[in-house]
Amino acid sequence: MEVRAERLEDVGAVHSLNVAAFGRVNEADLVDKLRGLASTFSFVAVESAQIVGHIFFSPVAIAGCANDLSILGLAPVAVLPEQQRQGIGTLLIRQSLAMCAQFGYAAVVVLGDPNYYSRFGFIPAKAKRLGCEYTVPDEAFMVLELESDALKECSGIVKYRSEFQACV
Ligand SMILES: CC(C)(COP(=O)(O)OP(=O)(O)OC[C@H]1O[C@@H](n2cnc3c(N)ncnc32)[C@H](O)[C@@H]1OP(=O)(O)O)[C@@H](O)C(=O)NCCC(=O)NCCS
Repeated sequence: MEVRAERLEDVGAVHSLNVAAFGRVNEADLVDKLRGLASTFSFVAVESAQIVGHIFFSPVAIAGCANDLSILGLAPVAVLPEQQRQGIGTLLIRQSLAMCAQFGYAAVVVLGDPNYYSRFGFIPAKAKRLGCEYTVPDEAFMVLELESDALKECSGIVKYRSEFQACV
């Protein structure tokens, strides 16, 4: 299986994959709205020429952090329903986080199941004095520093792009 940057010809398959994985259009439409904006990254997992997984990153803002600190939000991530629980999501997340680190991003936040994301090194964002703009359990909002101590002088409420409102 290969993890690579999404290409123009993948857009339709990525939309269908997100609809199939989430059982609704919201996440697929969100990706279509955000794709191409600055600091957004879309990666796909490809197996036997079929797109089996997709992951998206977009910029988040934290009022209490230096403006030049580049932080991304991981969302959405999806694997074709019939291909789930075979390690595709794990590989996709690991490899795409490594690419975000290579691109020079300082940290990534995610809203999701702590049992799943802790395996990638995500910890509760609260431990780094970061909060979520949405009403969610503390443990569901997590952060991963891609550079050690990147968030040392940073605190506050993390804001996703306004387009995310359609998914909460
Ligand atoms: C979440 C998702 C991307 C994981 O991909 P995957 O290829 O199935 O995951 P992997 O095979 O790498 O990992 C499987 C592990 O993840 C766990 N897992 C799978 N889906 C999960 C979910 N939605 N929540 C929590 N844990 C999940 C499994 O229990 C399994 O744990 P184990 O290794 O301890 O047995 C995939 O299940 C999916 O597309 N779900 C629907 C969309 C979604 O909810 N996305 C996440 C929110 S943005």
